[in-house]
Amino acid sequence: MPIYLDYHATTPVDPRVFAAMTPYFMEVFGNPASTSHAVGLKARAAVEQARARIAACLHATSPREIVFTSGATESNNLAIKGVARTCGPRGRHVITAVTEHKAVLNACKALQDDGYDVTLLPVQPDGRVSVADVVAALRSDTVLVSVMHANNEIGVVQEIAALGALCRARGVLLHTDATQSFGKVSVDVQALQVDLVSMSAHKMYGPKGVGALYVRSPCRLAPQLDGGGHEGGLRSGTLNVPGIVGLATAVELSCADLDQDRRKQRRLRDRVWVALREACPDVLLNGPDPLTNPEARLPNNLNVSLPAAAGAALLAAFGDEVAVSTSSACTSASGEASHVLTALGRAAGLVNLRISVGRPTTDDEIDQVVARIARSAVRA
Ligand SMILES: Cc1ncc(COP(=O)(O)O)c(C=O)c1O
Repeated sequence: MPIYLDYHATTPVDPRVFAAMTPYFMEVFGNPASTSHAVGLKARAAVEQARARIAACLHATSPREIVFTSGATESNNLAIKGVARTCGPRGRHVITAVTEHKAVLNACKALQDDGYDVTLLPVQPDGRVSVADVVAALRSDTVLVSVMHANNEIGVVQEIAALGALCRARGVLLHTDATQSFGKVSVDVQALQVDLVSMSAHKMYGPKGVGALYVRSPCRLAPQLDGGGHEGGLRSGTLNVPGIVGLATAVELSCADLDQDRRKQRRLRDRVWVALREACPDVLLNGPDPLTNPEARLPNNLNVSLPAAAGAALLAAFGDEVAVSTSSACTSASGEASHVLTALGRAAGLVNLRISVGRPTTDDEIDQVVARIARSAVRA
């Protein structure tokens, strides 16, 4: 097993999450919609408890504000299309940013194809969306602003609380994709003043294929799946009970362990950054400076661009022993260049590396990675 430094792509399931899920595969296997007997009711109780646990961690006002989905792709689609298609008569303008995840960008593109107007905001050199740009883009027919909490490639943390205050004052809904935030930065829906928040279990040491959307009451959404009307009519389909219990446990752990996790991850990430800077003086940092502006960047994220020769030497030194991403995993599935790095103005021909540490990363692993980085400098 290589040293895994790709925790933005996915995370292993935390043993505490796995233990919490286990009874819900074989012992408590009922369908939570089967309310005529105890088998179903037991599963339903687990789902409702999970909903309440997640709501408490987010400081939501009611468990009913949590809607379970299959992950953040679905949550983003439900938030964006759901708001736009409900608010249609009031306005058909949506604002988002060029560096959003494709699940947001392509949901907005689908709206555009349906005749909605979408403003795609540029970002500043460090990847941040300017609040002044959002102010300038707001119109009388704007119904939604969607800006991610933290970017999955360059780790930049957006000024969501400022956008929340702005949107609330202007009567416009704010959605944030917080998929990469849990366990790294606080996700408090009251402090952030957000109306919709997307999350995904597999990015926070939970299982794959389950997520949720926080929907502030009384915000109304048009469902995107037709079916039996589960989740208050917002998301039809039999609920993934073990996954939902796993998500709730993962969210709770991400809150309980937040301070210790982020302190450790930042320390390990900074060691890699310092080693890279020493080995390759020409390295270009993508996103905010981890050392001088740590609050603006996820504590576990490093994203750099290297001149071709130095990049090739580093990748050779990593070999099969260190697993890092040469761009976002979600992007590389389609074989395209990173739209995030393109938005930052990075030239073609550079070697782009995303290195993300995680809860299980050890000092010993980072010692080995740092040694390989130092060795690559000799060869470059
Ligand atoms: C910021 C962000 N949003 C959405 C997604 C999609 O999440 P999921 O895999 O749960 O559909 C990802 C996955 O990489 C992500 O990083």
